[in-house]
Amino acid sequence: MPTQINICQTSAGVDEFIRRCACVLNTTIFAIVQDVMEMLLSEGHIPSVHQLYPSSGKLSSPYSRLASVNLIAHSINASAIILENIDRRMPLDQLSVLACVSHDIGKIPRLLKMVDGAYSRVKHARASANALQDLIGGRIPPRQSELIIDAVRHHHEYRNFGPIWENLVKADQLAREKEEFLLMSTRRQ
Ligand SMILES: [Fe+2]
Repeated sequence: MPTQINICQTSAGVDEFIRRCACVLNTTIFAIVQDVMEMLLSEGHIPSVHQLYPSSGKLSSPYSRLASVNLIAHSINASAIILENIDRRMPLDQLSVLACVSHDIGKIPRLLKMVDGAYSRVKHARASANALQDLIGGRIPPRQSELIIDAVRHHHEYRNFGPIWENLVKADQLAREKEEFLLMSTRRQ
């Protein structure tokens, strides 16, 4: 089995992320991020990519290698891309952090099971959006809620769903590139 990547695996990494969010996010968004993190910390110790053949041990493709990054780490890594350049006065930036931390929670088996059909990227995105909708409840204005849930629901589709979707798709991709780079560097050592 590959070595687990330690970007954010330690409680110190998670604590640092929570501390940073507490500094830059408004109280409501921060409370929802905390709820997402609670879910991730109890059920997110799973590979961040779906493994069709988990026991095959074939880790040659970049996609397969990313299975060694767990869901908690990838969720934080994507959020960190937004946090690096966040303008705390911009509601869209704040909502983008929430979109990033929650975009793949639908990979949690309990949540994935709630959506019918075989596994697909669209299926986990739908499961993430449904779970996020429940977590948000009525805590943020409906228009903001709609924008962020749409961004999460469609984060693997190639039609532009607005600025939060753009931020999320870019952050997800950059986080994957960083994870892949780190995995390759670790293998070379
Ligand atoms: Fe995804």
